[in-house]
Amino acid sequence: MWISILSVIVHNLFIIVPYVKSNDHWCNLPVPDSCRCRLRHHQYTLDCTNSNMTSIPTITSSTTWYEINFENNKINLLIKCQFIKLYVKRLNLKSNYLIRIQESTFKDIIGLNDLILSSNNLTKIQSEIFVHTPDLSTLDLSNNPFEYLDIDSLLEQLKSSLEILYLRNISSINKSIISNKFIYGSNLKYLDLSFNDLKSLNIDMFNSMINLETLILNENKLKDLNGLIFQKLTNLINVKLDHNELIELPIIQSNSIKILSLEENLIQSLTLFALVNMTNLTSLDLDKNQLSTIYTHTFCNTSLKLDLISMDSNQFQTLSYCSLNMTTSENLLYSLRKNERLICSCDLYKAYRQPKHWTIDFDDCLLPPLMNKIQLENLSNSICQNNITCEIDCMKTHTQILDELKQLEEEEKKRRLVNKQHGQRLNNINMANIMFNSKLFSFYLIIIIIRSIKLNLFV
Ligand SMILES: *[C@@H]1O[C@H](CO)[C@@H](O)[C@H](O)[C@H]1NC(C)=O
Ligand SMILES: *[C@@H]1O[C@H](CO)[C@@H](O)[C@H](O)[C@H]1NC(C)=O
Ligand SMILES: *[C@@H]1O[C@H](CO)[C@@H](O)[C@H](O)[C@H]1NC(C)=O
Ligand SMILES: *[C@@H]1O[C@H](CO)[C@@H](O)[C@H](O)[C@H]1NC(C)=O
Ligand SMILES: *[C@@H]1O[C@H](CO)[C@@H](O)[C@H](O)[C@H]1NC(C)=O
Ligand SMILES: *[C@@H]1O[C@H](CO)[C@@H](O)[C@H](O)[C@H]1NC(C)=O
Ligand SMILES: *[C@@H]1O[C@H](CO)[C@@H](O)[C@H](O)[C@H]1NC(C)=O
Ligand SMILES: *[C@@H]1O[C@H](CO)[C@@H](O)[C@H](O)[C@H]1NC(C)=O
Ligand SMILES: *[C@@H]1O[C@H](CO)[C@@H](O)[C@H](O)[C@H]1NC(C)=O
Ligand SMILES: *[C@@H]1O[C@H](CO)[C@@H](O)[C@H](O)[C@H]1NC(C)=O
Repeated sequence: MWISILSVIVHNLFIIVPYVKSNDHWCNLPVPDSCRCRLRHHQYTLDCTNSNMTSIPTITSSTTWYEINFENNKINLLIKCQFIKLYVKRLNLKSNYLIRIQESTFKDIIGLNDLILSSNNLTKIQSEIFVHTPDLSTLDLSNNPFEYLDIDSLLEQLKSSLEILYLRNISSINKSIISNKFIYGSNLKYLDLSFNDLKSLNIDMFNSMINLETLILNENKLKDLNGLIFQKLTNLINVKLDHNELIELPIIQSNSIKILSLEENLIQSLTLFALVNMTNLTSLDLDKNQLSTIYTHTFCNTSLKLDLISMDSNQFQTLSYCSLNMTTSENLLYSLRKNERLICSCDLYKAYRQPKHWTIDFDDCLLPPLMNKIQLENLSNSICQNNITCEIDCMKTHTQILDELKQLEEEEKKRRLVNKQHGQRLNNINMANIMFNSKLFSFYLIIIIIRSIKLNLFV
């Protein structure tokens, strides 16, 4: 027995193991050529990165690997029997040349939690490969030119384990493979659908994902968004819609979302009461949009937990003190940096100088009539008196708007009924109605804004 142990040690020492000494500990396990073994926090990592490998080498050690990393090689096929009785938590195959993964590839891998297949050349993947990965909780399929991917059957296969799914940039040009309604995925907590050319989202697309906490929809082509789309997602906390083409802030119905980011869209104005039903919101990011106005009632009844409303790099010229003062949270910051066109007004002066439950942060403003830039400190030189008073009744306006909306909707219903009797039909009634209603809704609000201005409801 001793002889055999000794021979293993000798074998390891002198023949197979290329030792590595870095910040990590020594690691004396047999590893394939071009791979290095590391021991970090009592966990073994097999590092086979950057080695021009074209196929998976044989890994003989029967230890439990925390990670086996093949990043940046030239592996193009994953076939069965490549992995023989392997215990590994995280298998990273990012940036290879993978074109195919055979069905029972992962059959002999035990305990696989994370599988990274991003930046490869996969055009299709059979969901059957996941029959053998019952513990998979993180899957990354980003940056692959998929022509076919049955996301639902994949989600079904992994429905009791998968929590984190990255599907960034997975569609080949002009061909969207993202379902318009997911049926499975009730276990998912994190979903990234960035860079997918998505132009619209079905109103009930995510309804099955009742445990979703983070939804990333950055870098798509969304022009509008139905405010009801997150209503059923009662655990949703973080929503990112950066770099889309939204022209208005939808009235989102969600009392769970805390962080909402809409950076780099085309939003021109903030709809009245847009945030009224986001009662848990703490942070709203509207940087790099086209905002030029905040209506007096926009921030009526906003969440008491709001601590940041960021509107850097927009088109503001004037700002109404009273519109900013509508929030009631105890410690709110309005960030208004890089608004190059902001004019120094008494409202701005008061917003900057007066102690209140919120603060405003901006670089400088333009001083009329010469429109020279002036720094914050120099605002004290202006001659504003402390004479701004706000008399805004949020409740009254809200009720009024809802009443008018109801009335307009009734009229619209009647009109449509008449049209229907005349035999006019829409192709896809359901979808068209949803689209139409959300468009109509914003349209009504604009009408109401105009009417209300006439009624002197706004300061
Ligand atoms: C991988 O191949 C490239 C190009 O043939 C070569 O420049 C590079 O040195 C190779 N890297 C290794 C680790 O062999
Ligand atoms: C990816 O696949 C396409 C065709 O399927 C092929 O033309 C291309 O060379 C492949 N790229 C790499 C890096 O393997
Ligand atoms: C998207 O993925 C393709 C490969 O499918 C890659 O060539 C391209 O650079 C990726 N685009 C982005 C924005 O990551
Ligand atoms: C994708 O669609 C656009 C516009 O619909 C078109 O101009 C372009 O040629 C299409 N590209 C491919 C690769 O089909
Ligand atoms: C709002 O946030 C609190 C914690 O900050 C959380 O306990 C509560 O469940 C959230 N409300 C909803 C409806 O998600
Ligand atoms: C807020 O939610 C309530 C109750 O669901 C609803 O009646 C009201 O219309 C919503 N407000 C807005 C502005 O969407
Ligand atoms: C606004 O807040 C007040 C006081 O907190 C509350 O009574 C009222 O119902 C809220 N209005 C809306 C439209 O949510
Ligand atoms: C600020 O005011 C001081 C003194 O009035 C003046 O010297 C300085 O040039 C002003 N700065 C700007 C940026 O206007
Ligand atoms: C507030 O004071 C400024 C400067 O004195 C004046 O121009 C403005 O008319 C006053 N506004 C009100 C509502 O009294
Ligand atoms: C601003 O809001 C605070 C707190 O709601 C209120 O006490 C104060 O009167 C408001 N300021 C003005 C000028 O109305």
